Amino acid sequence: MPAMVTGATDGIGKQYAIELAKKGMNICLISRSETKLIEVANYIEQNQKVITKFIVADFSKGKIIYDKIRTHLDPLDIGILINNVGVMHECPDEFDELSEDSIWEMISVNIGAVTMMTKIIIPKMKLKNRGLVLNVSSGAHCQPMPLAAVYGATKSYTKTFTIALRKELAEYNVKAHLLIPMFVRTKMTDFTTTPKSGNIFFPNAESYVKATINTLGYYSQTCGYWNHNIQYILLNLIPEFVRVFIAHKVNKVFRQQYYNQQKVKQII
Ligand SMILES: NC(=O)c1ccc[n+]([C@@H]2O[C@H](COP(=O)([O-])OP(=O)(O)OC[C@H]3O[C@@H](n4cnc5c(N)ncnc54)[C@H](OP(=O)(O)O)[C@@H]3O)[C@@H](O)[C@H]2O)c1
Repeated sequence: MPAMVTGATDGIGKQYAIELAKKGMNICLISRSETKLIEVANYIEQNQKVITKFIVADFSKGKIIYDKIRTHLDPLDIGILINNVGVMHECPDEFDELSEDSIWEMISVNIGAVTMMTKIIIPKMKLKNRGLVLNVSSGAHCQPMPLAAVYGATKSYTKTFTIALRKELAEYNVKAHLLIPMFVRTKMTDFTTTPKSGNIFFPNAESYVKATINTLGYYSQTCGYWNHNIQYILLNLIPEFVRVFIAHKVNKVFRQQYYNQQKVKQII
């Protein structure tokens, strides 16, 4: 029974693919870069006795990619779907400063992929009366996110979509679970220099997934990492308008750090 991971060539998705393979699962990887997919697939097969398959697909292209994905997945009996793929703009910024391409990319990748991959995979799971869909949301779904307004909204979509689906799928013994990472050091969060890798508050993808893999299938909703669960609980004790205020302040700091990094790069 293979597992499938979207956005499997870097960060959290790549680590999920590696950890699931360690558990003996065959893995189907989907991402946009064939070179990186081959690298990850080879790494997994060299280190674990499992079979990998990969599909090259750019989720930012929207509707046109899903027929090809469906055809590739037809012969497979996916037992676990990790809807991980996601994008953010290069750094927190005001909505009207974002390019239209960047806005469409977030909508197509963060909303389109979780929706359509689930649509493709669940009919077989329902038929077989088993399966798990893990949708990766974000701490950004806790409140509106000034300077990451679209990104935060896409993650709120993931949350409500998953909770609704969970109810629908329960009678078929198919689980729809939500993973809520807080800050994880990956390519996506390169805009900030503050949290260093290895820090217990801001783990890198490897440490984060090594912890969170143990929660897979057990919790309908979790941050997957003890420290992130504490942050999530504390955050939700604060009134929303205060959370929005804090999110705005923090994103302003991140944006400034990004601009400072860019200036240093220009000088070098
Ligand atoms: N990092 C955090 O702090 C954090 C916090 C909360 C939630 N999350 C969520 O966790 C998930 C993973 O984030 P991450 O930090 O691991 O991101 P990441 O390191 O940037 O990795 C993203 C993965 O998605 C792939 N990808 C990006 N755009 C794609 C596209 N158009 N088509 C196909 N594949 C594409 C990337 O491929 P390439 O290798 O080609 O780039 C990469 O494999 C996302 O949903 C994110 O929103 C992250």
